[in-house]
Amino acid sequence: MSEVLKTENLWKVYPNGVEALKGVNLELYEGEMVGLMGPSGSGKSTLLHMVAGLEKPTKGKIYLFGQDIGDFDEDRLSEIRQKYIGFIFQFYYLLEDFTVFENLTLIGRMAGQREPEKKALDILNYLRLSHRLKHRPSELSGGEQQRVAIGRALILEPRLLLADEPTGNLDIEEGKRIFELFLRLKEEKGLSLLVATHNEELRTYFDRIYRLRDGVLDV
Ligand SMILES: Nc1ncnc2c1ncn2[C@@H]1O[C@H](COP(=O)(O)OP(=O)(O)OP(=O)(O)O)[C@@H](O)[C@H]1O
Ligand SMILES: [Mg+2]
Repeated sequence: MSEVLKTENLWKVYPNGVEALKGVNLELYEGEMVGLMGPSGSGKSTLLHMVAGLEKPTKGKIYLFGQDIGDFDEDRLSEIRQKYIGFIFQFYYLLEDFTVFENLTLIGRMAGQREPEKKALDILNYLRLSHRLKHRPSELSGGEQQRVAIGRALILEPRLLLADEPTGNLDIEEGKRIFELFLRLKEEKGLSLLVATHNEELRTYFDRIYRLRDGVLDV
């Protein structure tokens, strides 16, 4: 199995002195769904943001698809993100001036997809949002916004999905439905996933779990 992600001795010290990550080493292989679990403040979001190239590590290396992203400039990082990575943000970051439907189709069109509409409809249908296509994010419940954020991360058919508490605002049944979708994408398309969650009930979906505590992985 080929290696999708590897971190080596990854450190993040924020400017205020908080040591959010202290020497994290992890790997993710193609077609794996791996959990990232740990208490609030343990560094899960920090780790996912660095892996996506959204934040710079203080020290250490990140390899995506075998390439050291420490050598990449901002343009190259954006290109890698657009082509290969889906990111589900803990706090969604939806485009507030656009509808649910447009939040997906715009991403597709910007990436050069010819007919993002059909794919957007299929995804939104699975996410049970067909009745909310023309709504703006501010008109949605927290769980509905979360499902739009999931849809947006999937529209470009990423090879790697980085998901930060993707079901944090969903009830357990809806959460399982999302994880069933993740499983299907992993099995049918070889998607690799690194998923931060607090929810121990969803543990059984993971191939492996990394446990983070105070910026350090349990061994
Ligand atoms: N921008 C920042 N500046 C300074 N400190 C930060 C910043 N972002 C996070 N931290 C600190 O880094 C630590 C790790 O935060 P992080 O958001 O990665 O945790 P988390 O595991 O995702 O928590 P949660 O489960 O609550 O989402 C925390 O102590 C937090 O206060
Ligand atoms: Mg977090």
